[in-house]
Amino acid sequence: ASSIEVNVESLEPGMSLTVKWRGKPVFIRNRTEAEIEEAKAVAVGDLKDPVARNANIAAAAEATDLDRSAGEGKENWLVMIGVCTHLGCIPLGQAGEFGGWFCPCHGSHYDTAGRIRKGPAPENLPVPVFSFVSDSVIKIG
Ligand code: FES
Repeated sequence: ASSIEVNVESLEPGMSLTVKWRGKPVFIRNRTEAEIEEAKAVAVGDLKDPVARNANIAAAAEATDLDRSAGEGKENWLVMIGVCTHLGCIPLGQAGEFGGWFCPCHGSHYDTAGRIRKGPAPENLPVPVFSFVSDSVIKIG
């Protein structure tokens, strides 16, 4: 099947898990208030990649924290393909200078919304098509 369902009931704020979808890792993170606030505090104009890269919304949408997240009322959830947009390594979670992800291959730093902030990667980590099929189950694809 091309879509998978993931139960995220046990993911407390601050926790994340990685699942495999179409041969790629997908990061699912239940962000803390502090992580959300940190990402919200950044002006889109200051981002290296100002595009949301979110397959669920308009292609031209800006990389605001809300449009990187699962949306209104579910801003705590971040779902992204865990492949560095530089040369495809898998970034490490809760690492790097911006408290998000760090790619050790060539030093790309992503923030708590998965947006590229420093290093050679050109784009934000992409958000795949996904939806909540219940309060605790996310369907990816
Ligand atoms: Fe991630 Fe190069 S592959 S920084």
